[in-house]
Amino acid sequence: MQEKNRRVVWITGASSGIGAALAKTYSLDGAKLLLTSRNRDRLELTRAELAFPEHAEICAADVTNREEISTLIQHFDSLESFPDTIILNAGTYKPMSVDDFSSGSIREIMDLNFHSVALALELLLPKLKSRGTGHIAVVSSLAADKGFPFAGAYSASKCALVRLCESLQVELLDLGIYLSVVQPGFVSTPLTAKNKFPMPFMIGADDAASLIFKKLQKKHLSIRFPWQMSWIMRVISCLPGSLALKVNRWMAK
Ligand SMILES: NC(=O)c1ccc[n+]([C@@H]2O[C@H](COP(=O)([O-])OP(=O)(O)OC[C@H]3O[C@@H](n4cnc5c(N)ncnc54)[C@H](OP(=O)(O)O)[C@@H]3O)[C@@H](O)[C@H]2O)c1
Repeated sequence: MQEKNRRVVWITGASSGIGAALAKTYSLDGAKLLLTSRNRDRLELTRAELAFPEHAEICAADVTNREEISTLIQHFDSLESFPDTIILNAGTYKPMSVDDFSSGSIREIMDLNFHSVALALELLLPKLKSRGTGHIAVVSSLAADKGFPFAGAYSASKCALVRLCESLQVELLDLGIYLSVVQPGFVSTPLTAKNKFPMPFMIGADDAASLIFKKLQKKHLSIRFPWQMSWIMRVISCLPGSLALKVNRWMAK
């Protein structure tokens, strides 16, 4: 493939789980990759597993740090081609019960899962608008559909992402920019490895990445999977209050 025809893809949270699997998938497709996370050594491990490691650049940066992300995007601007596909995937999950309820912990989760995406959008949009093209994918979660016990902060952060993106999608489409929201169910990664509860319909990270890749190729704006979990969440989120409470009581056991 000629260098100028190579698609440029920026993936955040590329040192682990879904992000690392996406890097492998896009590398197989011949893309030039810009891989971000805080941990350079772990990014090197991701790069070593790529089909074409020579087409991947590692950029250690904290997505919650304005200065680091701004410098990174300025660096992208100095490259021969600015990223045309941007996957804002970095995120985390921390359970929180009433006993350890803390607004500080909620702020931390919102900072990483929500505000970091808002920051990246603020810095990216002027560039993408002036080019009149680009595809941004924001990784939310099916947990955005409903507040489950112990997952309130996570669910709130992922729901905020869905609402933010929904509200921007139409305006951006008119400017030639696609903004997709990805809502995975359970995916086997270090993030879910610490969960002690049953995780129905869990899929592997490589399968998740391949699904996301295919749907993004087709420019889907809402990507929810696996379908079984997606439908379960849709039904649960439509239940009347008393039934929804029963489901949450059962889940809290
Ligand atoms: N696994 C699931 O079942 C599931 C389901 C629904 C949605 N999701 C979402 O999918 C995304 C990826 O999750 P995963 O399961 O692949 O988790 P993971 O294996 O824990 O990976 C998280 C990634 O985010 C990076 N990261 C964390 N904090 C960062 C920061 N401040 N700045 C830059 N990078 C940071 C981590 O790298 P460093 O530590 O090196 O910075 C790592 O590469 C998350 O947004 C998650 O909420 C996951």
